[in-house]
Amino acid sequence: MDGNDMDRNDIKSYYYFKDEEKEVRFKRHDTPTPWMNYLSNGTFHTMISQAGGGVAFYKSPQIWRISRYRFFHLPTDRSGPYIYIQDAKTKEYWSPTYEPVEVRLDKWESAHGMGYTRFMAEKDGLCAELTYFVGELENSLIWNLKLKNNNSVDKKIKLFAFVELGMMEFMRELQWQCYNKHQLSVKYKESSGALIYKYGVENQPKPDETPLVYFTADRRPSAYDGDRDEFIGSYRSEANPFAIEKDGCTNSTLLGGDPCAALQFDITIKAGQEETINIFLGTGMTEEEIEKSIENSRQADFTSKSFKLLKEHWNNYLGKFKCSLPDTDAQRQINIWNPYQADRNFLFSRNISFYATGTFRGVGYRDTAQDILSKVPFDIEASKDKIKLLLSQEYKDGHVNHYFFPNEGWEPVKSIHSDDHLWTVLSVWQVVIESGDLSFLDEKVSYYDGGDGTVYDHLTKSIDFTLSKLGVNGFPLMLRSDWNDQLFRVCREGKGESIWTAMQFGVALKKMAELAKLKGNKEEVLKYNTKYEQQKVLVNSTGWDGKWFRRAVMDDGRFLGSDVHEEAKIWLNAQTWAVMSGMGDKDKCIQAMDCVKEMLDTELGIKKIHPSIVNFPSPEDPLTNYNPGTGENGAVFCHANTWAIIAECMLGRGDIAYKYYKQLIPNVAMEKAGIWRYKAEPYVYVSNIFGPESDKFGLANVSWLTGTAAWMYVAVTQYIMGIRPQWEGLMINPCLPSEWDNISIEREFRGCKYDIEISNNSKGAKSISVDGERIKGNIIPHVSGRKTAIVKVIM
Ligand code: GLC
Repeated sequence: MDGNDMDRNDIKSYYYFKDEEKEVRFKRHDTPTPWMNYLSNGTFHTMISQAGGGVAFYKSPQIWRISRYRFFHLPTDRSGPYIYIQDAKTKEYWSPTYEPVEVRLDKWESAHGMGYTRFMAEKDGLCAELTYFVGELENSLIWNLKLKNNNSVDKKIKLFAFVELGMMEFMRELQWQCYNKHQLSVKYKESSGALIYKYGVENQPKPDETPLVYFTADRRPSAYDGDRDEFIGSYRSEANPFAIEKDGCTNSTLLGGDPCAALQFDITIKAGQEETINIFLGTGMTEEEIEKSIENSRQADFTSKSFKLLKEHWNNYLGKFKCSLPDTDAQRQINIWNPYQADRNFLFSRNISFYATGTFRGVGYRDTAQDILSKVPFDIEASKDKIKLLLSQEYKDGHVNHYFFPNEGWEPVKSIHSDDHLWTVLSVWQVVIESGDLSFLDEKVSYYDGGDGTVYDHLTKSIDFTLSKLGVNGFPLMLRSDWNDQLFRVCREGKGESIWTAMQFGVALKKMAELAKLKGNKEEVLKYNTKYEQQKVLVNSTGWDGKWFRRAVMDDGRFLGSDVHEEAKIWLNAQTWAVMSGMGDKDKCIQAMDCVKEMLDTELGIKKIHPSIVNFPSPEDPLTNYNPGTGENGAVFCHANTWAIIAECMLGRGDIAYKYYKQLIPNVAMEKAGIWRYKAEPYVYVSNIFGPESDKFGLANVSWLTGTAAWMYVAVTQYIMGIRPQWEGLMINPCLPSEWDNISIEREFRGCKYDIEISNNSKGAKSISVDGERIKGNIIPHVSGRKTAIVKVIM
């Protein structure tokens, strides 16, 4: 099973889905890039690949990183939480994770599930099943290893568990580990059989909140190492540790140097018998706390109980929205991987992934405000907390910090963007509508620059901020940029205006008008509707280029996104949001979305702009340095594709919407592009895919942490399936592809479980019945106390 002598283009040789178990399974370890999973209890986290590489961290990968992961370095995907199994007689050794030892195994498979990753391996009659997960009972990565000796003779093995540690502050490590590493220590506590690592580096941002790290097992080790040099040796790596090849662990401790945590266990497994060992890599604030945590972890049922709780959590969580569709790929995404990915975005914003090193980004205001949209149906309370965290970054004038660092306590990034502060209007609206409760609007949140106001006050200020920053054409000023990070290059003089932000503002104004109405505030309703109408007129006049909507006005007064230019003539966002905001005239919207189809769509998704930029607006100062077809240039920007799906549904064009949805389902896109071209995971969305103007059309980038997850979920559940909460109740407004006939959905909404069946007979009249009774319109009125509702929909 060595990748090099297999056909690397044979997708089926890599993986398959096991939907009943909510798992994706890997048949070989050498995927084109590491295919990751995130294990987490909300406080202790581990990112781990299908081959066992990855990194553990406590709360923040920036200041409390526990293990070392070498981003971008070769060999790919090192280091990780590794197990080595050594035959005591022959001294041969291997790893259940396959990596890092280059020994061929007799059998091997791994699997990512909801919050756990499992490896199954066999060598010379010894079977290993190794499951990693983070439970809710302790802040630790649990390594549950089951060994089975299938031979007819007893087997003596030496078992090594190893993890490379480093400085908790990865950036400081890169800069000045030469001295700082002498402020680290690893000692062995005889009494508890645990290695304890202390990060004692001076000048760290939050020394009082820095935990100690422990590494132990539910049985006593026979030897240990805390010094990486002693365990690995020189000119060696995780692939061939010196200690394993020589006489085993050396009982080294570390008072300064390069730390590791390695434990050795000498075990005899009787013929035909099984042995289980649980290993714990965890944190505690004090040694006493660690003692307690270890004692708890060594309880006989600790691991099984922790795993059971994890399973229950995900079954309950994903049970809130389930569907059955005539499309297995879509069904799997909606029921399993999309909400799972969206939850990880909600947790980590854009901080750490195989692509993002976890050194730089905190909580992005607009990123997280959008992530909340798909969290709301699953967890209203967590969504409210996150919204309040975001609103605490708002200033009294209504603008917000661009991104901030709640765990690290660093100064936020304070650039002012035209869109950031408006996104929270959408998230708050979603929470109010889902819960059917206005009281959240009255909760108090402080302003970043002092004083406090209600959630509703915060929203009104964000609207007023935009109203105070309109340009000469009447559109919102671009400020530093809008949603598109690159646009700062056409508005440096502060005169540039964003036509797209006008549309986003339109969505926010409509939501505000609705909230104001619910609060009984007529004057404000009038104000928001009037402002909406003013922007709408502009969008359809100055904003209209003749065939599509323009994207922006540049500092020099020229339009961006116009047919008069050679490059970047048409921009996806301006077309989709003209529809989404309800601002574009119907005929213009249809024409614009037709242009999207003709000029931007490819078989692997919709390009963000066309043609790609090379020399625009001038060769000396082009709008972007991204190569044509990549990233923020003419790539397929998946996040923005989701809005095309919504727009097409709003125009009632279900077949086009479905085409746009389907072509970005990760495993579908991979099939089309080829695995060695696509490269990223086939189960989670990426941020962008190289476009046809690049040299690698179809190469997928920046998976896991992307706004694509949240919006794709919104697009498919609320627009294609049309299950869209409203204040009065649950709206059912599907826009299905003609090839689907019947679909069914289970959805929890305000304490009631809705069992919805939709028959897609596009010619028939639309009718909805609830528990056998036909209702008027398409909103099922909320009835308090109702626990179940059987809904039949005929289209
Ligand atoms: C990246 C950023 C996001 C931005 C987008 C488009 O995804 O995280 O904030 O809106 O790029 O530029």
